Amino acid sequence: MLVGMGAVSTTFIAGTLLIKKGLAPPIGSLAEMGTVRLGKRTEGRSPLIKDFVPLAGLDDLVFGAWDIFEDNGFEAATTAGVIEPALLEQIRPELEAIKPWPAVFDQRYVKRLMGTNIKTGANKLELAEQIRDDMRRFKETNQLDRLVMIWCGSTEIFLTPSDAHQSIEAFEAAMKANAHEISSSMVYAYAALKEGIPYANAAPNLSADFPALDQLAIDNGSPVCGKDLKTGQTLIKTIIAPGLKARLIGVSGWYSTNILGNRDGEVLDDPESFKTKEESKKSVLDYILQPDLYPTLYKDLCHVVRINYYPPRGDNKEGWDNIDLVGWLGYPMQLKINFLCRDSILAAPIVLDLVLFLDLAKRAGMSGIQEWLSFYFKSPVHAPDVYPEHDLFIQLMKLKNTLRFMRGEELITHLGLEYYD
Ligand SMILES: NC(=O)c1ccc[n+]([C@@H]2O[C@H](COP(=O)([O-])OP(=O)(O)OC[C@H]3O[C@@H](n4cnc5c(N)ncnc54)[C@H](O)[C@@H]3O)[C@@H](O)[C@H]2O)c1
Repeated sequence: MLVGMGAVSTTFIAGTLLIKKGLAPPIGSLAEMGTVRLGKRTEGRSPLIKDFVPLAGLDDLVFGAWDIFEDNGFEAATTAGVIEPALLEQIRPELEAIKPWPAVFDQRYVKRLMGTNIKTGANKLELAEQIRDDMRRFKETNQLDRLVMIWCGSTEIFLTPSDAHQSIEAFEAAMKANAHEISSSMVYAYAALKEGIPYANAAPNLSADFPALDQLAIDNGSPVCGKDLKTGQTLIKTIIAPGLKARLIGVSGWYSTNILGNRDGEVLDDPESFKTKEESKKSVLDYILQPDLYPTLYKDLCHVVRINYYPPRGDNKEGWDNIDLVGWLGYPMQLKINFLCRDSILAAPIVLDLVLFLDLAKRAGMSGIQEWLSFYFKSPVHAPDVYPEHDLFIQLMKLKNTLRFMRGEELITHLGLEYYD
């Protein structure tokens, strides 16, 4: 179940339908294409992840969504303009069958949007009950065993946890009182967790990452992860930065700018939504480069991130990075990156992986924060007493070691001294 049926959701749904029909390969999905090495290098055991852990198959998936617009899946995918019309035609009936349920929406949280497919209710607790009804009906109608909810809705305004977010009692009281602190995405997250369903937040806004919903997730056996899918410029940043740090190359400045013309870009043109995104994008370098440990190299780093809404480009984002480097004896160098990417093409396989891995986690009895899924996020949700891990390569090792751990296989340390005894 996807909250929001925009570019990311429709590219995920349509892509999965095309892959099921054998019309396209699942490129970018670790769950579908990745392997995991087991045992020693000499053993030559590297099964596909999907053969190693019992993931749900693509044929088992059924899609449902909420949106503030009434467009069905075909119309929404056509509007998003990511997948070419000829391919969409091949799955038209399946897409047309997905009609979004009315949304919980309040324009105070997403200023640039207005739609008509919206629920009404006396208060936010009652709206959450309506979401729970939608989920139960969906499950019953399609005779489903299990559900997963992913927030792929627009980025909401920047909010920080307040008293209302500290306990379940305070949170429910605030819902009843229609408090401003409870955004629409929190209403969905609460509904999912009440049903014991896994929940992931693909956007950067505060949604389930505070004590009240952490506790609810643990109490009800819901695995949770987020926030903000790591695609595009930030993906490249978390690939390049660990490499620079590994070789102790200094960075005095990192200027990132983007042009983006889809609806996401339009929403992010609002300063309050952009602030949420900016916070999410900017934190990665601090954690990867560790200026406290390496003050000579990174203490004065000037990190600037800009997103410019530029309609002609649609979903085909272009990002530029200028990185000012410092080498041996303090000599300056520069690195320029120009990434002509497709935002939703990078995001869709992540959504698929999250659905499959969260469902696996639920069946494995894991609940609360799933830090091993940090690999997929710009602002990984983490335990309060540790800092978030942003280095893509450490994140991947953590993910694969978690899968090994689940199956009782030896964890891989890459020590390998035994080969030289
Ligand atoms: N594409 C990427 O690479 C990427 C990466 C990281 C994060 N994200 C985030 O993912 C989210 C989705 O991106 P997108 O490109 O699909 O955006 P989009 O604007 O195409 O789609 C978002 C959809 O959510 C709907 N929506 C908004 N509020 C809602 C609510 N309360 N209930 C139900 N529906 C609601 C909108 O009507 C819209 O159809 C955004 O927040 C974006 O910032 C995208």
